[in-house]
Amino acid sequence: MINLEQLIRPNMLSLQPYSSARDEFSGSEGVFLDANENPFGEWNRYPDPFQNTLKQKLSEIKAVQPKTIFLGNGSDEIIDLCFRLFCEPGKDKALTFVPTYGMYEVAAAINSVELIQLPLKENFQMDIEAVEPFLNDKNLKLIFLCSPNNPTGNCIDNIEYLLENFNGIVLVDEAYIDFSTKDSLAKKTNQYPNLIVIQTLSKAWGLASARIGLAITNPEIVKLLNKIKPPYNISQLNQEKALEILSDTKNFEFKKKMILKQRTILQNELAKIDFVVEIYPSETNFLLLKVNDADAIYNQLIEKKIIIRNRNKVLANCLRITIGTPEENHILIDALKNIQL
Ligand SMILES: Cc1ncc(COP(=O)(O)O)c(C=O)c1O
Repeated sequence: MINLEQLIRPNMLSLQPYSSARDEFSGSEGVFLDANENPFGEWNRYPDPFQNTLKQKLSEIKAVQPKTIFLGNGSDEIIDLCFRLFCEPGKDKALTFVPTYGMYEVAAAINSVELIQLPLKENFQMDIEAVEPFLNDKNLKLIFLCSPNNPTGNCIDNIEYLLENFNGIVLVDEAYIDFSTKDSLAKKTNQYPNLIVIQTLSKAWGLASARIGLAITNPEIVKLLNKIKPPYNISQLNQEKALEILSDTKNFEFKKKMILKQRTILQNELAKIDFVVEIYPSETNFLLLKVNDADAIYNQLIEKKIIIRNRNKVLANCLRITIGTPEENHILIDALKNIQL
């Protein structure tokens, strides 16, 4: 059983949070002369600091209670806030399996937290034997698991083993879960108080420019995250745009289906190209491929103004390709067929 008080940095527990004008009076009717806002205009008022309308909508879509949702300015903000909340700089540690999403390492470095990086196994699964010796380290506060994982594209198995055998926080980054055939762990936050599931509107919902990420977790952690976040971290414009996009579930399903169909088409076309050594199974909106010469292929595509991600430095001769529109994918395949090696 976790002891949340022992996991939180002491200064965060005792912190007196900033009390905004909207914290002190939350009604919507009246003459508002309390927040030094400009009285004129359409966008002159500060937004709801706790994004209650948006959380209500998200709670219906995700089938979780609003009090279990925290919203960040992109999931990147949530990753940073988790380091700040749980890890004492220069003392506490976090752990992840690599290759994975690069922001865990950057956010750890920004917060002066050591990030232990264990290699994923050859099948891109977590190495339980390798992680076992770290689980009793009192200074290990956070384990990051990206599932489906970026850049390998697969879901990680056995996450519940960690939830049951680690007394710190297990943060599961489900940025790509809407493209996956596997279930989200979001509903398991009732069962595991040490689980934080993060998701985003940047991928399947197509709202990367609005910067909205979600943490679904136990309400005590939501309260603590609320305490340390910047007061108005999601703009009114972005909250309204998100509500509009979230109301159009038909469009969401249509685009998701298109992306998944295009993924299959791209997979089939790539398999016909002789320098493609392997196409890894994907539960996401991208494909990871092993090729003969990733640098040469990447550079030739760049010359044609086709930009993919060269992952050669983290996985030898691997390229990551985001699924585009049918036209974009067609342009890519044409260009790949004309690569000179
Ligand atoms: C695994 C993963 N998590 C989080 C993010 C960032 O999400 P957001 O746009 O919500 O900050 C990305 C973006 O590529 C990602 O790949």
